[in-house]
Amino acid sequence: MTMSGLSARLPRWLLPHSLSVRLVLLFTVSTAIVFLLLGAILQQMLRIEFTQRDTDELEARVKVVVHHFSEIGGPQDLAANIPRFADVAIEQARVQIGLLQQELWLLRPKDSVIGIVTRVGVGRLVGHGALEYVGEQGRRWWLVAVAHRWADTGAAPVYAVIAIDVTDATNVQEHFRTALWLSGLAGIMLMATLAWWAARRGLAPLGWVATEAERVTAQRLGQALSMEDAPTEVRGMVSSINRMLERLGESFNSLEQFSADIAHELRTPVNSLLLQTQVTLARERSTDEYREALHASLEELEHLHRMVSDMLFIARAERDMTRIARVPVHLGREVEEVVEYFEPLVAERGQEITVSGDATVTGDRVMIRRAITNLLSNAVRYAPPASPIAVRITARADAVFLAVENRCEPISEHELARLFDRFVRRGDEPGAAAEGTGLGLAIVRSIMTLHGGRASAHARTGGVVFELEWPVEQGGSGITQM
Ligand SMILES: Nc1ncnc2c1ncn2[C@@H]1O[C@H](COP(=O)(O)OP(=O)(O)OP(=O)(O)O)[C@@H](O)[C@H]1O
Ligand SMILES: [Mg+2]
Repeated sequence: MTMSGLSARLPRWLLPHSLSVRLVLLFTVSTAIVFLLLGAILQQMLRIEFTQRDTDELEARVKVVVHHFSEIGGPQDLAANIPRFADVAIEQARVQIGLLQQELWLLRPKDSVIGIVTRVGVGRLVGHGALEYVGEQGRRWWLVAVAHRWADTGAAPVYAVIAIDVTDATNVQEHFRTALWLSGLAGIMLMATLAWWAARRGLAPLGWVATEAERVTAQRLGQALSMEDAPTEVRGMVSSINRMLERLGESFNSLEQFSADIAHELRTPVNSLLLQTQVTLARERSTDEYREALHASLEELEHLHRMVSDMLFIARAERDMTRIARVPVHLGREVEEVVEYFEPLVAERGQEITVSGDATVTGDRVMIRRAITNLLSNAVRYAPPASPIAVRITARADAVFLAVENRCEPISEHELARLFDRFVRRGDEPGAAAEGTGLGLAIVRSIMTLHGGRASAHARTGGVVFELEWPVEQGGSGITQM
Protein backbone atom coordinates (compact mmCIF):
# COMPACT_ATOMS: atom_id res chain seq x y z
CA MET A 1 0.00 0.00 0.00
CA THR A 2 1.39 3.43 -0.86
CA MET A 3 1.56 6.19 1.74
CA SER A 4 -1.16 8.21 0.08
CA GLY A 5 -3.33 5.11 -0.21
CA LEU A 6 -2.88 4.49 3.48
CA SER A 7 -3.69 8.06 4.45
CA ALA A 8 -6.78 8.04 2.23
CA ARG A 9 -8.05 5.00 4.10
CA LEU A 10 -7.51 6.36 7.60
CA PRO A 11 -10.33 8.32 9.24
CA ARG A 12 -9.74 12.09 9.41
CA TRP A 13 -9.53 12.33 13.19
CA LEU A 14 -6.65 9.85 13.19
CA LEU A 15 -4.55 12.17 11.06
CA PRO A 16 -2.98 15.03 13.02
CA HIS A 17 -2.72 18.50 11.48
CA SER A 18 1.06 18.63 11.36
CA LEU A 19 2.32 17.24 8.07
CA SER A 20 5.58 16.04 9.68
CA VAL A 21 3.78 14.16 12.44
CA ARG A 22 1.43 12.70 9.87
CA LEU A 23 4.29 11.47 7.68
CA VAL A 24 6.20 10.06 10.65
CA LEU A 25 3.11 8.21 11.88
CA LEU A 26 2.31 6.75 8.48
CA PHE A 27 5.92 5.75 7.96
CA THR A 28 6.23 4.16 11.39
CA VAL A 29 2.98 2.24 11.06
CA SER A 30 4.06 0.94 7.64
CA THR A 31 7.45 -0.11 9.00
CA ALA A 32 5.85 -1.84 11.98
CA ILE A 33 3.55 -3.80 9.67
CA VAL A 34 6.50 -4.91 7.53
CA PHE A 35 8.53 -5.90 10.62
CA LEU A 36 5.66 -7.87 12.11
CA LEU A 37 5.08 -9.76 8.88
CA LEU A 38 8.77 -10.55 8.46
CA GLY A 39 9.06 -11.64 12.10
CA ALA A 40 6.06 -13.95 11.82
CA ILE A 41 7.45 -15.54 8.65
CA LEU A 42 10.94 -16.07 10.12
CA GLN A 43 9.53 -17.58 13.28
CA GLN A 44 7.34 -19.97 11.35
CA MET A 45 10.29 -21.04 9.19
CA LEU A 46 12.41 -21.72 12.26
CA ARG A 47 9.66 -23.81 13.85
CA ILE A 48 9.22 -25.91 10.73
CA GLU A 49 12.99 -26.42 10.48
CA PHE A 50 13.33 -27.67 14.07
CA THR A 51 10.25 -29.87 13.88
CA GLN A 52 11.56 -31.47 10.70
CA ARG A 53 14.97 -32.16 12.26
CA ASP A 54 13.52 -33.84 15.35
CA THR A 55 10.94 -35.80 13.39
CA ASP A 56 13.65 -37.11 11.04
CA GLU A 57 15.78 -38.17 13.96
CA LEU A 58 12.92 -39.99 15.63
CA GLU A 59 11.89 -41.76 12.42
CA ALA A 60 15.43 -42.94 11.71
CA ARG A 61 15.59 -44.57 15.13
CA VAL A 62 12.18 -46.20 14.75
CA LYS A 63 13.46 -47.79 11.52
CA VAL A 64 16.56 -49.18 13.24
CA VAL A 65 14.47 -50.61 16.09
CA VAL A 66 12.02 -52.27 13.69
CA HIS A 67 14.97 -53.73 11.81
CA HIS A 68 16.48 -55.10 15.05
CA PHE A 69 13.18 -56.72 16.05
CA SER A 70 12.89 -58.38 12.65
CA GLU A 71 16.31 -59.98 13.05
CA ILE A 72 15.52 -61.54 16.43
CA GLY A 73 14.23 -65.10 15.87
CA GLY A 74 12.23 -65.46 19.09
CA PRO A 75 11.77 -64.21 22.66
CA GLN A 76 14.62 -66.39 23.86
CA ASP A 77 17.13 -64.34 21.80
CA LEU A 78 15.93 -61.00 23.13
CA ALA A 79 18.17 -60.75 26.19
CA ALA A 80 21.28 -61.28 24.03
CA ASN A 81 20.26 -58.50 21.70
CA ILE A 82 19.58 -55.77 24.30
CA PRO A 83 23.01 -54.08 23.75
CA ARG A 84 22.11 -53.62 20.07
CA PHE A 85 19.03 -51.67 21.15
CA ALA A 86 21.10 -49.68 23.65
CA ASP A 87 23.39 -48.66 20.76
CA VAL A 88 20.50 -46.86 19.09
CA ALA A 89 20.89 -44.03 21.59
CA ILE A 90 24.54 -44.29 22.32
CA GLU A 91 26.41 -41.03 23.00
CA GLN A 92 23.28 -39.05 22.42
CA ALA A 93 22.02 -37.53 25.67
CA ARG A 94 19.06 -36.10 23.77
CA VAL A 95 17.87 -39.55 22.66
CA GLN A 96 16.69 -42.22 25.10
CA ILE A 97 15.64 -45.78 24.41
CA GLY A 98 13.96 -48.33 26.65
CA LEU A 99 12.64 -51.89 26.26
CA LEU A 100 9.55 -52.75 28.23
CA GLN A 101 7.91 -56.14 28.62
CA GLN A 102 5.04 -56.67 31.03
CA GLU A 103 5.82 -53.64 33.22
CA LEU A 104 9.44 -54.70 33.37
CA TRP A 105 12.19 -52.53 31.88
CA LEU A 106 14.64 -54.83 30.08
CA LEU A 107 16.56 -51.71 29.01
CA ARG A 108 16.08 -48.64 31.22
CA PRO A 109 15.97 -45.10 29.77
CA LYS A 110 16.34 -42.01 31.98
CA ASP A 111 14.08 -42.01 35.03
CA SER A 112 12.15 -39.02 33.76
CA VAL A 113 11.26 -40.94 30.56
CA ILE A 114 10.21 -43.95 32.67
CA GLY A 115 8.06 -41.58 34.71
CA ILE A 116 6.29 -40.25 31.61
CA VAL A 117 5.69 -43.75 30.17
CA THR A 118 4.25 -44.88 33.51
CA ARG A 119 1.96 -41.87 33.53
CA VAL A 120 0.61 -42.01 29.95
CA GLY A 121 0.79 -45.80 29.48
CA VAL A 122 2.93 -47.33 26.73
CA GLY A 123 -0.12 -48.27 24.65
CA ARG A 124 -0.78 -44.61 23.82
CA LEU A 125 2.69 -44.25 22.31
CA VAL A 126 2.20 -46.92 19.68
CA GLY A 127 1.14 -46.04 16.15
CA HIS A 128 0.02 -42.40 16.63
CA GLY A 129 3.17 -40.54 15.73
CA ALA A 130 5.18 -38.73 18.40
CA LEU A 131 3.57 -37.61 21.64
CA GLU A 132 4.81 -34.35 23.16
CA TYR A 133 5.06 -34.31 26.91
CA VAL A 134 6.50 -31.85 29.40
CA GLY A 135 8.22 -33.89 32.10
CA GLU A 136 10.42 -33.15 35.10
CA GLN A 137 12.20 -29.76 35.32
CA GLY A 138 10.06 -28.49 32.50
CA ARG A 139 11.87 -30.57 29.91
CA ARG A 140 9.94 -31.24 26.78
CA TRP A 141 9.99 -34.75 25.32
CA TRP A 142 8.76 -36.36 22.15
CA LEU A 143 7.98 -40.08 22.65
CA VAL A 144 7.12 -42.93 20.34
CA ALA A 145 6.92 -46.69 20.95
CA VAL A 146 7.29 -49.73 18.67
CA ALA A 147 5.50 -52.94 19.76
CA HIS A 148 6.78 -56.37 18.72
CA ARG A 149 5.15 -59.80 19.08
CA TRP A 150 6.42 -63.24 18.12
CA ALA A 151 3.58 -65.24 16.69
CA ASP A 152 2.73 -68.68 18.13
CA THR A 153 5.05 -68.26 21.09
CA GLY A 154 2.58 -66.97 23.64
CA ALA A 155 5.24 -64.53 24.88
CA ALA A 156 4.08 -61.06 26.01
CA PRO A 157 4.79 -58.21 23.49
CA VAL A 158 7.93 -56.15 23.83
CA TYR A 159 7.79 -52.34 23.55
CA ALA A 160 10.72 -50.29 22.41
CA VAL A 161 10.24 -46.70 23.68
CA ILE A 162 12.23 -43.98 21.88
CA ALA A 163 12.26 -40.46 23.37
CA ILE A 164 13.88 -37.23 22.16
CA ASP A 165 14.48 -34.22 24.38
CA VAL A 166 13.36 -31.19 22.28
CA THR A 167 13.73 -28.60 25.08
CA ASP A 168 16.73 -26.93 23.46
CA ALA A 169 14.94 -26.41 20.16
CA THR A 170 12.02 -24.80 21.99
CA ASN A 171 14.42 -22.59 23.95
CA VAL A 172 16.17 -21.47 20.80
CA GLN A 173 12.82 -20.54 19.27
CA GLU A 174 11.87 -18.55 22.34
CA HIS A 175 15.17 -16.66 22.39
CA PHE A 176 14.79 -15.96 18.73
CA ARG A 177 11.31 -14.54 19.31
CA THR A 178 12.55 -12.21 22.07
CA ALA A 179 15.46 -11.06 19.92
CA LEU A 180 13.07 -10.47 17.05
CA TRP A 181 10.75 -8.32 19.18
CA LEU A 182 13.59 -6.26 20.57
CA SER A 183 15.25 -5.66 17.23
CA GLY A 184 11.86 -4.93 15.67
CA LEU A 185 11.17 -2.31 18.32
CA ALA A 186 14.60 -0.76 17.88
CA GLY A 187 14.08 -0.82 14.09
CA ILE A 188 10.74 0.93 14.37
CA MET A 189 12.21 3.59 16.62
CA LEU A 190 15.09 4.10 14.23
CA MET A 191 12.68 4.36 11.30
CA ALA A 192 10.57 6.90 13.22
CA THR A 193 13.66 9.03 13.83
CA LEU A 194 14.74 8.76 10.20
CA ALA A 195 11.19 9.54 9.04
CA TRP A 196 11.13 12.64 11.25
CA TRP A 197 14.41 13.81 9.79
CA ALA A 198 13.26 13.03 6.24
CA ALA A 199 9.93 14.78 6.76
CA ARG A 200 11.64 17.91 8.09
CA ARG A 201 14.01 17.96 5.16
CA GLY A 202 11.32 17.04 2.63
CA LEU A 203 8.91 19.72 3.82
CA ALA A 204 11.53 22.46 3.85
CA PRO A 205 10.28 23.84 0.47
CA LEU A 206 7.00 24.75 2.19
CA GLY A 207 8.99 26.99 4.50
CA TRP A 208 10.42 28.68 1.44
CA VAL A 209 6.92 29.42 0.14
CA ALA A 210 5.93 30.84 3.53
CA THR A 211 8.95 33.15 3.59
CA GLU A 212 8.26 34.31 0.05
CA ALA A 213 4.55 34.87 0.81
CA GLU A 214 5.54 37.05 3.78
CA ARG A 215 6.94 39.60 1.32
CA VAL A 216 3.61 40.07 -0.47
CA THR A 217 1.77 43.26 0.47
CA ALA A 218 -1.14 45.11 -1.10
CA GLN A 219 1.31 47.48 -2.85
CA ARG A 220 3.32 44.58 -4.19
CA LEU A 221 0.49 42.30 -5.28
CA GLY A 222 1.74 42.49 -8.84
CA GLN A 223 5.16 41.05 -7.94
CA ALA A 224 4.97 37.32 -8.41
CA LEU A 225 6.92 34.82 -6.28
CA SER A 226 10.06 33.99 -8.20
CA MET A 227 9.80 30.72 -10.08
CA GLU A 228 13.55 30.30 -10.65
CA ASP A 229 14.33 30.16 -6.93
CA ALA A 230 11.40 27.85 -6.14
CA PRO A 231 12.23 24.22 -5.28
CA THR A 232 10.94 21.89 -8.00
CA GLU A 233 8.32 20.29 -5.74
CA VAL A 234 6.51 23.55 -5.07
CA ARG A 235 6.68 25.02 -8.59
CA GLY A 236 3.04 24.03 -9.25
CA MET A 237 1.93 25.59 -5.99
CA VAL A 238 3.96 28.74 -6.63
CA SER A 239 2.44 29.19 -10.08
CA SER A 240 -1.06 28.75 -8.58
CA ILE A 241 -0.24 31.35 -5.93
CA ASN A 242 1.08 33.67 -8.64
CA ARG A 243 -2.12 33.31 -10.65
CA MET A 244 -4.09 34.04 -7.47
CA LEU A 245 -1.95 37.13 -6.84
CA GLU A 246 -2.59 38.25 -10.40
CA ARG A 247 -6.37 37.93 -9.94
CA LEU A 248 -6.16 39.68 -6.58
CA GLY A 249 -4.08 42.42 -8.17
CA GLU A 250 -6.69 42.94 -10.88
CA SER A 251 -9.52 43.11 -8.33
CA PHE A 252 -7.45 45.45 -6.24
CA ASN A 253 -6.79 47.71 -9.21
CA SER A 254 -10.45 47.83 -10.20
CA LEU A 255 -11.31 48.61 -6.58
CA GLU A 256 -8.77 51.41 -6.59
CA GLN A 257 -10.14 52.68 -9.89
CA PHE A 258 -13.63 52.49 -8.41
CA SER A 259 -12.79 54.65 -5.41
CA ALA A 260 -10.85 57.08 -7.58
CA ASP A 261 -13.91 57.36 -9.88
CA ILE A 262 -16.22 57.99 -6.95
CA ALA A 263 -13.97 60.64 -5.46
CA HIS A 264 -13.65 62.35 -8.83
CA GLU A 265 -17.37 62.26 -9.61
CA LEU A 266 -18.46 63.38 -6.15
CA ARG A 267 -16.09 66.31 -6.10
CA THR A 268 -17.91 68.42 -8.66
CA PRO A 269 -21.42 68.32 -7.13
CA VAL A 270 -20.06 68.61 -3.59
CA ASN A 271 -17.90 71.58 -4.62
CA SER A 272 -20.80 73.34 -6.23
CA LEU A 273 -23.01 72.67 -3.16
CA LEU A 274 -20.28 74.14 -0.99
CA LEU A 275 -19.88 77.18 -3.19
CA GLN A 276 -23.62 77.82 -3.43
CA THR A 277 -24.03 77.58 0.33
CA GLN A 278 -21.05 79.88 0.99
CA VAL A 279 -22.35 82.46 -1.47
CA THR A 280 -25.86 82.29 0.00
CA LEU A 281 -24.55 82.74 3.54
CA ALA A 282 -22.20 85.61 2.59
CA ARG A 283 -24.85 88.26 3.34
CA GLU A 284 -28.43 88.71 4.50
CA ARG A 285 -30.97 87.37 1.98
CA SER A 286 -34.69 87.48 1.53
CA THR A 287 -36.84 84.39 2.16
CA ASP A 288 -37.35 83.95 -1.58
CA GLU A 289 -33.62 84.01 -2.19
CA TYR A 290 -33.06 81.37 0.48
CA ARG A 291 -35.82 79.23 -1.03
CA GLU A 292 -34.20 79.50 -4.44
CA ALA A 293 -30.81 78.56 -3.05
CA LEU A 294 -32.27 75.55 -1.25
CA HIS A 295 -33.94 74.46 -4.49
CA ALA A 296 -30.65 74.57 -6.28
CA SER A 297 -29.07 72.55 -3.48
CA LEU A 298 -31.90 70.04 -3.63
CA GLU A 299 -31.20 69.40 -7.29
CA GLU A 300 -27.54 68.77 -6.60
CA LEU A 301 -28.44 66.54 -3.67
CA GLU A 302 -30.87 64.51 -5.77
CA HIS A 303 -28.19 64.07 -8.37
CA LEU A 304 -25.76 62.95 -5.66
CA HIS A 305 -28.33 60.61 -4.17
CA ARG A 306 -28.99 58.97 -7.52
CA MET A 307 -25.30 58.56 -8.17
CA VAL A 308 -24.59 57.01 -4.79
CA SER A 309 -27.42 54.47 -5.07
CA ASP A 310 -26.38 53.64 -8.66
CA MET A 311 -22.79 53.09 -7.54
CA LEU A 312 -24.01 50.89 -4.74
CA PHE A 313 -26.07 48.82 -7.15
CA ILE A 314 -23.12 48.30 -9.50
CA ALA A 315 -20.75 47.51 -6.65
CA ARG A 316 -23.09 44.87 -5.26
CA ALA A 317 -23.74 43.37 -8.68
CA GLU A 318 -20.00 43.18 -9.41
CA ARG A 319 -19.32 41.46 -6.09
CA ASP A 320 -22.09 38.96 -6.92
CA MET A 321 -23.98 40.01 -3.80
CA THR A 322 -27.23 40.58 -5.65
CA ARG A 323 -29.69 37.73 -5.77
CA ILE A 324 -31.92 37.94 -8.80
CA ALA A 325 -35.43 36.58 -9.05
CA ARG A 326 -36.17 34.09 -11.82
CA VAL A 327 -39.66 34.67 -13.11
CA PRO A 328 -41.05 34.94 -16.64
CA VAL A 329 -40.85 38.55 -17.83
CA HIS A 330 -42.89 39.71 -20.86
CA LEU A 331 -40.53 42.07 -22.63
CA GLY A 332 -43.30 43.55 -24.84
CA ARG A 333 -45.40 44.52 -21.84
CA GLU A 334 -42.43 46.05 -19.98
CA VAL A 335 -41.36 48.09 -23.02
CA GLU A 336 -44.93 49.32 -23.46
CA GLU A 337 -45.13 50.58 -19.88
CA VAL A 338 -41.74 52.30 -20.05
CA VAL A 339 -42.68 53.95 -23.35
CA GLU A 340 -45.89 55.18 -21.72
CA TYR A 341 -43.82 56.70 -18.91
CA PHE A 342 -41.67 58.63 -21.39
CA GLU A 343 -44.69 59.69 -23.51
CA PRO A 344 -44.88 63.33 -22.28
CA LEU A 345 -41.14 63.93 -22.82
CA VAL A 346 -41.20 62.22 -26.22
CA ALA A 347 -44.20 64.34 -27.28
CA GLU A 348 -42.46 67.49 -26.11
CA ARG A 349 -39.38 66.68 -28.20
CA GLY A 350 -41.46 65.68 -31.17
CA GLN A 351 -39.92 62.19 -31.28
CA GLU A 352 -41.73 58.95 -32.05
CA ILE A 353 -41.14 55.50 -30.55
CA THR A 354 -42.12 52.35 -32.46
CA VAL A 355 -42.16 48.90 -30.82
CA SER A 356 -42.08 45.59 -32.71
CA GLY A 357 -41.96 41.89 -31.71
CA ASP A 358 -42.39 40.28 -28.33
CA ALA A 359 -40.82 37.51 -26.26
CA THR A 360 -40.68 36.25 -22.70
CA VAL A 361 -37.43 35.79 -20.81
CA THR A 362 -36.70 34.41 -17.35
CA GLY A 363 -35.26 36.88 -14.89
CA ASP A 364 -35.77 39.69 -12.43
CA ARG A 365 -38.65 41.94 -13.56
CA VAL A 366 -37.56 45.04 -11.67
CA MET A 367 -34.03 44.83 -12.97
CA ILE A 368 -35.02 44.13 -16.57
CA ARG A 369 -37.36 47.10 -16.43
CA ARG A 370 -34.54 49.25 -15.10
CA ALA A 371 -32.31 48.22 -18.02
CA ILE A 372 -35.05 49.03 -20.55
CA THR A 373 -35.69 52.38 -18.83
CA ASN A 374 -32.00 53.30 -18.95
CA LEU A 375 -31.77 52.50 -22.69
CA LEU A 376 -34.96 54.39 -23.56
CA SER A 377 -34.08 57.40 -21.41
CA ASN A 378 -30.73 57.59 -23.23
CA ALA A 379 -32.44 57.30 -26.62
CA VAL A 380 -34.93 60.05 -25.77
CA ARG A 381 -32.23 62.23 -24.24
CA TYR A 382 -29.48 61.87 -26.86
CA ALA A 383 -31.50 61.49 -30.11
CA PRO A 384 -32.15 64.78 -31.89
CA PRO A 385 -35.65 66.26 -31.60
CA ALA A 386 -38.31 65.02 -34.06
CA SER A 387 -36.35 61.84 -34.82
CA PRO A 388 -37.67 58.26 -34.74
CA ILE A 389 -36.73 55.76 -32.04
CA ALA A 390 -37.22 52.02 -32.72
CA VAL A 391 -37.49 49.22 -30.17
CA ARG A 392 -37.24 45.69 -31.63
CA ILE A 393 -37.70 42.41 -29.74
CA THR A 394 -36.57 39.27 -31.54
CA ALA A 395 -36.45 35.67 -30.34
CA ARG A 396 -34.11 33.03 -31.76
CA ALA A 397 -33.77 29.40 -30.72
CA ASP A 398 -30.73 30.18 -28.57
CA ALA A 399 -31.28 33.80 -27.48
CA VAL A 400 -33.71 36.70 -27.11
CA PHE A 401 -32.70 40.20 -28.24
CA LEU A 402 -33.99 43.64 -27.36
CA ALA A 403 -32.61 46.47 -29.49
CA VAL A 404 -33.10 50.22 -29.12
CA GLU A 405 -32.09 52.28 -32.16
CA ASN A 406 -31.95 56.04 -32.50
CA ARG A 407 -30.30 58.77 -34.54
CA CYS A 408 -27.24 60.54 -33.22
CA GLU A 409 -23.85 61.98 -34.14
CA PRO A 410 -21.54 59.23 -35.45
CA ILE A 411 -19.75 57.34 -32.67
CA SER A 412 -16.56 55.32 -33.33
CA GLU A 413 -16.51 51.59 -32.49
CA HIS A 414 -13.78 52.24 -29.94
CA GLU A 415 -15.91 54.81 -28.17
CA LEU A 416 -18.97 52.54 -28.31
CA ALA A 417 -17.22 49.79 -26.39
CA ARG A 418 -16.26 52.26 -23.65
CA LEU A 419 -19.77 53.66 -23.17
CA PHE A 420 -20.59 50.78 -20.80
CA ASP A 421 -17.79 51.75 -18.40
CA ARG A 422 -18.61 53.74 -15.27
CA PHE A 423 -18.76 57.54 -15.54
CA VAL A 424 -18.20 57.61 -19.28
CA ARG A 425 -20.07 60.45 -20.99
CA ARG A 426 -19.44 61.79 -24.43
CA GLY A 427 -20.52 65.21 -23.34
CA ASP A 428 -20.98 66.77 -26.80
CA GLU A 429 -24.66 65.93 -27.10
CA PRO A 430 -27.18 68.48 -25.86
CA GLY A 431 -28.08 68.24 -22.17
CA ALA A 432 -25.62 65.44 -21.47
CA ALA A 433 -23.20 66.74 -18.90
CA ALA A 434 -25.87 68.56 -16.97
CA GLU A 435 -28.03 65.56 -16.11
CA GLY A 436 -26.20 62.30 -16.66
CA THR A 437 -23.94 60.60 -14.19
CA GLY A 438 -22.51 58.22 -16.77
CA LEU A 439 -23.69 55.19 -14.82
CA GLY A 440 -26.82 54.24 -16.79
CA LEU A 441 -25.13 51.89 -19.26
CA ALA A 442 -22.82 50.45 -16.57
CA ILE A 443 -25.96 49.44 -14.68
CA VAL A 444 -27.44 47.91 -17.85
CA ARG A 445 -24.29 45.84 -18.30
CA SER A 446 -24.33 44.69 -14.64
CA ILE A 447 -27.98 43.66 -14.93
CA MET A 448 -27.30 41.67 -18.11
CA THR A 449 -24.27 39.98 -16.54
CA LEU A 450 -26.39 38.95 -13.54
CA HIS A 451 -28.82 37.37 -16.01
CA GLY A 452 -26.03 35.54 -17.78
CA GLY A 453 -26.59 37.71 -20.85
CA ARG A 454 -24.81 40.56 -22.67
CA ALA A 455 -25.22 44.23 -23.49
CA SER A 456 -23.59 45.73 -26.57
CA ALA A 457 -23.66 48.83 -28.78
CA HIS A 458 -23.24 49.01 -32.56
CA ALA A 459 -22.94 51.92 -34.94
CA ARG A 460 -25.61 52.40 -37.61
CA THR A 461 -25.55 54.97 -40.41
CA GLY A 462 -26.58 58.18 -38.73
CA GLY A 463 -27.29 56.49 -35.46
CA VAL A 464 -26.60 53.82 -32.91
CA VAL A 465 -28.26 50.64 -31.68
CA PHE A 466 -28.01 49.31 -28.13
CA GLU A 467 -28.72 45.59 -27.84
CA LEU A 468 -29.55 43.34 -24.88
CA GLU A 469 -29.16 39.59 -25.26
CA TRP A 470 -30.60 36.87 -22.97
CA PRO A 471 -29.44 33.32 -23.61
CA VAL A 472 -32.24 30.74 -23.77
CA GLU A 473 -31.78 27.91 -21.27
CA GLN A 474 -31.64 24.76 -23.37
CA GLY A 475 -34.49 22.37 -22.58
CA GLY A 476 -36.23 24.96 -20.40
CA SER A 477 -39.35 26.85 -21.44
CA GLY A 478 -37.39 30.12 -21.17
CA ILE A 479 -39.08 31.95 -24.03
CA THR A 480 -42.20 31.97 -26.09
CA GLN A 481 -42.44 33.91 -29.26
CA MET A 482 -45.68 35.75 -29.92
N1 LIG B 1 -28.95 56.17 -27.27
C1 LIG B 1 -27.83 56.89 -27.26
N2 LIG B 1 -27.52 57.67 -28.32
C2 LIG B 1 -26.40 58.40 -28.29
N3 LIG B 1 -25.48 58.40 -27.30
C3 LIG B 1 -25.75 57.64 -26.24
C4 LIG B 1 -26.91 56.84 -26.14
N4 LIG B 1 -26.89 56.17 -24.98
C5 LIG B 1 -25.77 56.56 -24.34
N5 LIG B 1 -25.07 57.43 -25.07
C6 LIG B 1 -23.77 58.03 -24.69
O1 LIG B 1 -23.21 57.23 -23.71
C7 LIG B 1 -22.91 57.94 -22.50
C8 LIG B 1 -23.13 57.07 -21.31
O2 LIG B 1 -24.49 56.79 -21.12
P1 LIG B 1 -25.00 56.39 -19.70
O3 LIG B 1 -26.41 56.07 -19.78
O4 LIG B 1 -24.07 55.39 -19.17
O5 LIG B 1 -24.76 57.68 -18.85
P2 LIG B 1 -25.61 59.00 -18.83
O6 LIG B 1 -26.81 58.84 -19.66
O7 LIG B 1 -24.66 60.10 -19.21
O8 LIG B 1 -25.96 59.15 -17.30
P3 LIG B 1 -27.14 58.39 -16.51
O9 LIG B 1 -27.71 57.38 -17.45
O10 LIG B 1 -26.41 57.81 -15.38
O11 LIG B 1 -28.06 59.46 -16.14
C9 LIG B 1 -23.86 59.11 -22.58
O12 LIG B 1 -23.33 60.19 -21.86
C10 LIG B 1 -23.97 59.37 -24.05
O13 LIG B 1 -22.87 60.17 -24.44
MG1 LIG C 1 -28.17 57.27 -19.36
